[in-house]
Amino acid sequence: MGEPARGEGNGGARTAASAGARRVRVLFVCLGNICRSPTAEGVMRALVRDAGLEDRIELDSAGTGAWHIDEPPDTRATNAALERGVELEGRARQVERDDFAEFDLIVAMDRSNLADLRRIAPDEAARAKVRLLRDFDPSADGELDVPDPYHGGSRGFDDVFDLVQRSCVALLAELRDALGERA
Ligand code: 4NP
Repeated sequence: MGEPARGEGNGGARTAASAGARRVRVLFVCLGNICRSPTAEGVMRALVRDAGLEDRIELDSAGTGAWHIDEPPDTRATNAALERGVELEGRARQVERDDFAEFDLIVAMDRSNLADLRRIAPDEAARAKVRLLRDFDPSADGELDVPDPYHGGSRGFDDVFDLVQRSCVALLAELRDALGERA
C-alpha cells in the first residue's frame, strides 16, 4: 500500500473535523502504547489545556500490540516528559474496531503502525481517518516515523519527546482551524 504523500497531510485534520465541527476526537497509536503514543497524548493534552480547548478536543491513545495492556507508561518516557513539565497518564490498551467509529482522527507514530491500522480498519472511511503524526511535523524533511525508543537509551526518549511536541503543535493548529477556533 502506498504511503500518503507529504503535503497531502494537513488535510487530515480538516477531513476529520469538518469546518465548524463542535468537537474532534483524536486517538494516538503506537505499537505498545507505553512510550510514543502516551507521550503524544500527554503533550497534546497539555497543549489543548493551555489553549482552553479541553471541551472541544478529546484525546486518547492505544497500541496495535497487546503485550503491555493495563501497564502505565514506560518510566523512561514518563521521566523525559516530566523533565519538560508534561505528565503522562493512563494505562495501555489495544486498538479496537470501535475506535474507528469513536475517533475522528487516528494518528499513527510510524509507518508500521499506519499499515497495521489500515489493515484492521473496517472500511475505506475508517482507513481515511488514519494519518502519520509526522505528516504534521514542519521539520520532518522526509522522515515519516517517530522512531521506536523501547530498545534504546534514554536519549531516544528525549528525541521522541521533541519531535512529538513540534508535530503536536502543528496538529493543534490544524485542529483549531478545523474547529473554527483561530489562536
Ligand atoms: P511504543 O514502544 O510502541 O512507543 O509504546 C514499544 C513498547 C514495547 C515494545 C515495542 C515498542 N515491545 O516490543 O514490547
